Amino acid sequence: MPNNDTPEPQAVCDPISRSAIFLTLTVARGEGPADTVREWCGDIAALVRAVGTRAPTANLSCVCGFGSEAWNFLFGAPRPASLHPFIEVGSGERRAIATPGDILLHIRADHMDLCFELASQLLIKLGDAVTVVDEVQGFRYFDLRDMVGFVDGTENPSGRSAPNHTIIGEEDSEFAGGSYVIVQKYFHNMDAWDGLTVEQQEKIIGRKKLSDVELDAAVKPSCSHSSLTTIDENGQEIKILRHNMAFGRPGAKEFGTYFIGYARTPAPIEQMMENMFVGRPPGNYDRLLDYSRAVTGGLFFVPSADLLDALPGRGSAAASTSSQPSSTAIK
Ligand code: HEM
Repeated sequence: MPNNDTPEPQAVCDPISRSAIFLTLTVARGEGPADTVREWCGDIAALVRAVGTRAPTANLSCVCGFGSEAWNFLFGAPRPASLHPFIEVGSGERRAIATPGDILLHIRADHMDLCFELASQLLIKLGDAVTVVDEVQGFRYFDLRDMVGFVDGTENPSGRSAPNHTIIGEEDSEFAGGSYVIVQKYFHNMDAWDGLTVEQQEKIIGRKKLSDVELDAAVKPSCSHSSLTTIDENGQEIKILRHNMAFGRPGAKEFGTYFIGYARTPAPIEQMMENMFVGRPPGNYDRLLDYSRAVTGGLFFVPSADLLDALPGRGSAAASTSSQPSSTAIK
């Protein structure tokens, strides 16, 4: 459990916002681009302040994470204990695929103009050191619903329980205050989904559509989304923090949900994906996937805000240690 000496986390546990921009970037290989990115890490907090102060009630925040390979070439050893490439699960049509990504930016605010301004400023600083490989502008649909029309985020941990489930503590003390984040961009077949009755949709999700109340155990199928994503360890529920957003382009018939889940280690999210895509037991898979297809997949380590600020000093560590494990303290 994180204690009072834990470094300040990034805005992982900030409340759900109305708007978000999700940017996935790859970094050009070479010392020049790596230097640019390391320096930029130290500028992020100042840019959030510069943009956010102009609209203090809009709750602007930014979380920045790094992929496994990027961590090696940007910062070297030591490495966050559970950072590894995204693990693909499933097969055929029902597959969680891994796609390229060195940096993830999760920019949130209650007004899209702030997200837009911050994304623009962050990218200007990075210049041609990076390529944007995925960009999604997300919104909350009416009363915090996602694209499939259900309220999304109800079972998120809240209050003190949110950092307990998402922020690294003494189990990896060099990286305390950090977190892990998994993202997947899903497209929905809305014609097929809308062809279901509300009762059929409710059995797939495991909750009532209008009221958001959980279905009674007697009628909730074991393959419902909520059953398969509920994980117990020694009688304790392991929660993750989700800030999913709807996105789309009606003119192009594109309707999506951007899944983003934070946790203290990637393991519970990976277990949930296994349950959804393969099934618990195998074959008893998540029927939401009959109407939804994951087109991206990435796993990123989110350093604490303190470590993010200190990363510009990590250049020589990367050059000298590359991917060697080490017990050297970071700060
Ligand atoms: C197509 C993408 C997805 C959609 C539309 C979606 C939608 C929903 C909805 C509507 C709920 C019920 C309300 C709530 O508690 O938030 C829910 C619950 C949940 N989802 Fe998803 N979800 C998606 C993908 C995922 C993925 C990929 C994971 C994890 C790997 C996940 C994990 C969870 C968890 C942990 C819960 C709470 C379960 C509970 O405690 O009852 N979801 N999701």
